[in-house]
Amino acid sequence: MTAPLDFDRIDPVYRAWADDYLRLSGFDPSAFLAVAQPAEDEMFFKALLPNFEGDRGIGAFKFVEATMRHYEALRQIVDQSFGGFNEVGSLLDFASGYGRLTRALLQRMPAERIWVSDIYAEAIDWQVRNFGVNGFASVPDPAALAHDGKHDVIFVGSLFSHLPADLFRAWLARLHGMLTPGGVLAFSVHDQSILPSAEAMDESGIRFFPWSESGSLDPAIYGMTYVTEAFVAEAIGDVGPEASPSWRVFHKGLYENQALYVVGGSDRDLSDLSVASPPMGGFERATLLTDGSVEFSGWAIERTPGQTLALAVHVDDRPVRMAEAMDDRPDVQPMFPASPMPPFAWRFRLGRADADTDSAIRLTLRSTSGLETHAFARMPSDPALTYSGWSRRSLPPL
Ligand SMILES: C[S@@+](CC[C@H](N)C(=O)[O-])C[C@H]1O[C@@H](n2cnc3c(N)ncnc32)[C@H](O)[C@@H]1O
Repeated sequence: MTAPLDFDRIDPVYRAWADDYLRLSGFDPSAFLAVAQPAEDEMFFKALLPNFEGDRGIGAFKFVEATMRHYEALRQIVDQSFGGFNEVGSLLDFASGYGRLTRALLQRMPAERIWVSDIYAEAIDWQVRNFGVNGFASVPDPAALAHDGKHDVIFVGSLFSHLPADLFRAWLARLHGMLTPGGVLAFSVHDQSILPSAEAMDESGIRFFPWSESGSLDPAIYGMTYVTEAFVAEAIGDVGPEASPSWRVFHKGLYENQALYVVGGSDRDLSDLSVASPPMGGFERATLLTDGSVEFSGWAIERTPGQTLALAVHVDDRPVRMAEAMDDRPDVQPMFPASPMPPFAWRFRLGRADADTDSAIRLTLRSTSGLETHAFARMPSDPALTYSGWSRRSLPPL
């Protein structure tokens, strides 16, 4: 039987990187990682971990990195709509799974104001027990959902990206009906631009395939879904009897490639909202040169239209230089279909005077959008590199 992911028992190098990532993002690492991720969490053990050949150290680091990107989308919405998490009366993470986002939210607002829901009742029980948040079990059919609470923020990461057309419309209307008048509902979808090239969009504006990463959910209610903006716009227009709500879409707004739709309650105007996507990238190679210095190289991508990236190199937390941006990386592009800007290569060199063997090397990808992400490596004593970046393995199928 699979053991839970105990963050205190992973390779200390990856634990140190995870701690650094959280600290740099304004979180307390020990509190964030105090509770082990349970063995029943399919998202971690079946979708994420196999991409890293079952290595729990890398998997734990990726769990933290991806959770920080996830949180960043929600933070921007909450900051701009409410002026911060302190001003949010009630926040619901719907389709929360085992609550990676809850770990972050607990450091931003009291547990009494956090609600979680998922069709996996045991995941909700686990969160209520371990995190002290409020929870209720969801059901396949929104008409049968027994919950009459209202929420200022409802965040739905990667559920609509799996729903067939009738459930897509019905869940959208049901969740929008659970908003306070000034509330906001944010949900992610696979948009038409990332539909596999061998497939064609249906004229209805939605394509549904009855398969998914889940080993237990009925593929008829949870498959893989691709939608056009026109389809989503019509579904938003149909959510209630009142005038069409205010809404915005941010392409690449959530996860690596999902579009993020944000819909307002009856009194919420979202015309000024903007949500940037954190940059991504990582180390790929360290080459030991004859003079003893090391050349590091990898790739990066700016995902927010119109923004640019600067790449700052740090050794043991000390800024030392900028990395050099080089050619585009068409081989990495397939991981980011329809991205507004192409991924590109970067490199930098460190001499033995810059860093000792085993020094912690950090590359901070700093976007003009104001968002930052971080990739980590160690100064190697030999060319075998320990690195934290995405390799060219495929991304987890969210
Ligand atoms: C791809 S996972 C995303 C989990 C979480 N939002 C995250 O980003 O870590 C999709 C989640 O939707 C849940 N789900 C599927 N059908 C649902 C339903 N009808 N109501 C609520 N949750 C559902 C699944 O159990 C799963 O936890």
